[in-house]
Amino acid sequence: MKAHIAVLPGDGIGPEVVAEAVRCLSLIATRFGHEFRMEDAPVGAVAMDATGMPLPPATLALAKTADAVLFGAIGAPRYSDPALKVRPEQAILQLRRELGLYANLRPVVCFGSVLDASPLKPELLAGVDIMIIRELTGGIYFGAKTRTETEASDLCVYTVPEVERIARLGARIARHRKRRLTSVDKANVLETSRLWRAVVTRVLAAEFPDVAVEHMYVDAAAMHLLRRPADFDVLITENMFGDILTDEASMLAGSLGLCASASIGNDTRGIYEPIHGSAPDIAGRGIANPYATILSAALLLRHSLGLEREARALEAAVVGALDAGVRTADLSPAGAPASTQAAGEAVLARL
Ligand code: IPM
Ligand code: MG
Repeated sequence: MKAHIAVLPGDGIGPEVVAEAVRCLSLIATRFGHEFRMEDAPVGAVAMDATGMPLPPATLALAKTADAVLFGAIGAPRYSDPALKVRPEQAILQLRRELGLYANLRPVVCFGSVLDASPLKPELLAGVDIMIIRELTGGIYFGAKTRTETEASDLCVYTVPEVERIARLGARIARHRKRRLTSVDKANVLETSRLWRAVVTRVLAAEFPDVAVEHMYVDAAAMHLLRRPADFDVLITENMFGDILTDEASMLAGSLGLCASASIGNDTRGIYEPIHGSAPDIAGRGIANPYATILSAALLLRHSLGLEREARALEAAVVGALDAGVRTADLSPAGAPASTQAAGEAVLARL
């Protein structure tokens, strides 16, 4: 097949990890007889340096016309001053919104050969395979904001259709898994959460009687994710809770550098990015872990291009590299850590 892929490496370690994922996609194209046209564009702090805008119109236009977007990371210390009105992070928020990507799939899988990289006891981690679905275009991220000298506010808004579509997506995905859905909210305090819980309850009862639904407060969920992670199957939650819980859950896998994500909407287009940030402290040193970005490229193959066989081949190659002990510094390797490139090459060698 022919596909047009927008490549937005962004800031910090973004370009380093994206380069490895691009190499993997190119080899997949060769091996399986596809033609992937990959087109680069600036986003985030590097785009602000060049144009003053974190999401230049040409980058947005490319993201909108491509079949899928491979994204690196965003954010830089030189633009972290809280007084700034324009910030690199606005680019990813605007992209998600403009492309209508309301659901963020964040699989958390504990790969057998790197259980020791997690700070948690290995016996808690066996069999952990959670699909966290984060609502991505609503809630406190997108509500009205105010700021004066003495006061600030962020409004959190959810509408019934916004919750319904996440509930349906979560339940549909649960049907292909263990048919268990955990809906996470803060319904003991927040009105938006009470609406969320009511809608999820109604949709599941009416349309998915075969999926078991459980409601959990977000504070309790944060604790249970560490205490009994293997009990979770599919977890749905609102935007900010999902942002926080997925960074926490990455410690089950052992590193943020192993956690991929797919941001999807109603059609096949999507943005695929590691859940980690731009990590300016290690940028430019060639030591970042590229596996999360490579696994995100696998999600791109699966969701946007419908290439399941290719997605599995790429995922298997990453698992193979991990099994062979090819570990970057974040995965506490026994010997000398693998460089970003060496980890990418270990995946290429197994394709
Ligand atoms: C993420 C990131 C972003 C978010 C930032 C960079 C705006 O933390 O994708 O999880 O909060 O959504
Ligand atoms: Mg985050």
